[in-house]
Amino acid sequence: MTDKTGSKTLINTGSLPEAGLGKKTEEIKFRHSHVNGIVFLPYMTEQRIHDLTNFQTRSEDVFIVSYPKSGTTWLAQILREIAKPTMPEGMDEQQVIGGTVPFFESVHPTVLDTYPSPRYMCTHLPYSMMPHNSKKKLKYIFIARNPRDVAASFFHWMRVLDKLEWDGSWDEFIGYFLKGNVPYGSYFDHILGWWNHQDDENLIFLKYEDMKKDLLGHVKKIAEFIEVPISQEEAQRVTQACSFSSMKADPKTNYDRYRDKIYKKDSTFSFMRKGVVGDWKNYFSDEQLAEFNKLYASRLEGTGIDFEFIG
Ligand code: A3P
Repeated sequence: MTDKTGSKTLINTGSLPEAGLGKKTEEIKFRHSHVNGIVFLPYMTEQRIHDLTNFQTRSEDVFIVSYPKSGTTWLAQILREIAKPTMPEGMDEQQVIGGTVPFFESVHPTVLDTYPSPRYMCTHLPYSMMPHNSKKKLKYIFIARNPRDVAASFFHWMRVLDKLEWDGSWDEFIGYFLKGNVPYGSYFDHILGWWNHQDDENLIFLKYEDMKKDLLGHVKKIAEFIEVPISQEEAQRVTQACSFSSMKADPKTNYDRYRDKIYKKDSTFSFMRKGVVGDWKNYFSDEQLAEFNKLYASRLEGTGIDFEFIG
């Protein structure tokens, strides 16, 4: 398809195939759906998971993968900035969630089919639900964040999402989180499912806390992984464009252009909320922390995954 100026444009149908509204239950008081035993955002249906799992990937595809609130948007911005010189003009203006780095679950597959290679996409899907044919040599960049800060960030995110119709308390939320009754299910199941593939040569496993410490080093590492040559000067430019303050001010990264689609009416929420390590301290009670620590130890001890909880 071409626009008036003759340049190539991409089509966005805007609607998801089989989008559902989800339901509230006695146990989970926000709108949600359940697919294969995992809690999802309300729009997710079995049909949709089926479509995603059967999506035709290409060997040049790169997926950013994360559990929600782990730095997905940050990584998307890093990829976008690294790849900018190689992207077709106008890609940034795409009206799909995520723009140049679309959110896999929210975009109609026919839209993604029109994206030129290499396609950069982000997803929160568990490993088991990724496209069947993705065993081809496409690339995965996994970003993990310590689960205490994920919980604090997730709490605010869930309260602001219009479709969830939920404005519960932190105490209610942490109960859901520890039981895995939040969108995308158990943090621990999710991260372990991907961690099992950490040695795969087409996957790199990054941590939010490490990126906070050395963003420039990570920009170079990511560029190398996706095989885009980058000079020191260019890596510094990307690092600057991916700082928290730059992203907070940039309408392409602060989600403000999706406000009406996503947030509750009149919400003043800022997607770039705090961007720090250690905000969890403002939320967990001693009892909640003890319960969390018990679960953390039972699921992650001995796996080789560990996190820093203080910035
Ligand atoms: P907080 O809510 O703790 O501030 P995701 O994109 O996976 O939903 O993650 C969102 C979290 O990443 C938010 O955390 C957001 O502030 C943080 N984030 C986004 N860009 C960042 C950046 N450039 N530096 C640090 N944190 C960033």
